[in-house]
Amino acid sequence: MKLYLDTGNIEEIREVAALGVLDGVTTNPTLIAREGKDFTQVIREIVGILKATGKEFTVSAEVTDLHADKMVEQGRALAAIDPHVVVKVPLIPEGIAAVHRLSREGIRTNVTLCFSTNQALLAAKAGAFIVSPFVGRLDDIGEQGLGLIRDIRRVFDNYHFTTQILTASIRHPLHVTEAALAGSDIATIPKQVFMKLFHHPLTEQGNEKFLRDWRAYEEQLRRGTQHGGAQ
Ligand code: E4P
Repeated sequence: MKLYLDTGNIEEIREVAALGVLDGVTTNPTLIAREGKDFTQVIREIVGILKATGKEFTVSAEVTDLHADKMVEQGRALAAIDPHVVVKVPLIPEGIAAVHRLSREGIRTNVTLCFSTNQALLAAKAGAFIVSPFVGRLDDIGEQGLGLIRDIRRVFDNYHFTTQILTASIRHPLHVTEAALAGSDIATIPKQVFMKLFHHPLTEQGNEKFLRDWRAYEEQLRRGTQHGGAQ
C-alpha cells in the first residue's frame, strides 16, 4: 500500500519525505487555505520535494468550481503544473462529467468526497485514476468507514476496475492497518498520525536497552585498555 501525506504544509512534507517512505501527497482547499500561500506555488514546491526523493509519486490538487466546464479548465491548468499532478474532483454529477472529459484527455483524476460504494462505482466508470473514500468522516457519523473500503475493493476486483482506492480522512494508526488489510491501494495520512506508525513501546524500550548495554561494554573495553588489559 502506498503511503501519502495529507497536508499542504511544506515543512511537514520535507520532514516525512526525508524518511524515504513517502509515495505522494494529497491536498484539499481547506489544507491549502490553512497555509495562506499561493496555490500553484505550493503545488510546485511539493512536487520539487518529492522529485528529490527519486521515488515514483503523485500530488493531488483540487478543483474549486461546481460546473464541469470550469472544472475541466481548472483541471487542465493544474495538470499543466507538472505531470505528477493528479486533479482532484468532487464526487458530484458535474464532477463525474469533468472526470470523464479529463480522463479522455489523458489527465489523471482523484475523485474525492466518496462516501458510498455506488459513488466509487461511478468514479471508476468515469475513468478516475484514484477514488478517495473518507473513512474518518463516516466513523464520525456512526458508520463503518473501513467497511466501505472492503466493499469498494470487492466491487473493483469483481469488475476489474483499475481505479486505485485511496483511503482518506484517516484519524489514527488503526485506520492505516485496516486500510492495508482491506486491500486499499493508497492511504493518505496526516503527519501526526504518520509519525505514530513508528511507535511501539517494545521497540523504544528494546532500543534503549541495546544502547545502554553497548555503552557499558564500550566503557568496559576503554577501562581495560587504560589498564593495559584488552587490546
Ligand atoms: C483527502 O484527500 C482529504 O484531504 C482528507 O483525507 C480529508 O480528511 P479530514 O476528514 O480529516 O478532513
